Amino acid sequence: FDLPILAPSILAADFLKLGDELQTCKDAGINWFHCDIMDGHFVPNISYGPGIVGAVRKSVPDSFLDVHLMIENPDNYIDDFADAGSDLISVHYEACPHLHRTIQSIKQNGCMAGVVINPATSTDLLRPILPDVDLALIMSVNPGFGGQKFIQSSYRKVQELKQIRSELNAEFLIEIDGGVGTKNISKLVETGVDVLVAGSSVFKAEDIPERISELNSLALK
Ligand code: DX5
Ligand code: ZN
Repeated sequence: FDLPILAPSILAADFLKLGDELQTCKDAGINWFHCDIMDGHFVPNISYGPGIVGAVRKSVPDSFLDVHLMIENPDNYIDDFADAGSDLISVHYEACPHLHRTIQSIKQNGCMAGVVINPATSTDLLRPILPDVDLALIMSVNPGFGGQKFIQSSYRKVQELKQIRSELNAEFLIEIDGGVGTKNISKLVETGVDVLVAGSSVFKAEDIPERISELNSLALK
């Protein structure tokens, strides 16, 4: 992958036209999609499950599928999401009392592994697990809904993670999720983000390909 990566979150897509919208993104050069799984317990909203992830897998067989689990007891569902065709599965620090075991289990299921922190969780808490993960995701909104306002203190957390990554000589990607759009994407990349999730900015745009090329050129500038 060439960094930075723009990762549309399909949560904001029109589910009745999901195949078409995925193809529109593909044609605009997207090859990484972000899937938001919500259970109504860990977060106050319900989204979709492994069935939809499997359908996305079939619809874009060559794209990278980044599956963000916002669920309680993620250990119980890792094999389902791996079987559905996930390339990377991320779990929340706050949802995993045995985070090391959960990360190992994601890898044993043949997927790359990511860890996520909520806005109120410190980056320092991730130190022990960071050498074992492929990606660390900073939530820049409180998870549960698309279309929320970006939390400004997230920039500092990106800087902190970058610093910790070099201290540890680790190689994980830094991803940001929530409220990313044309206004902040350049600064996020400058700060050190590798993967930018964008839901409403991409799928609620009048012209999706135009928005993707705008976001990409702002990210690369
Ligand atoms: C929030 C989800 C996000 C969300 C981003 O709980 O994890 O991925 O879909 O949506 P926007 O880009 O609309 O903030
Ligand atoms: Zn997400």
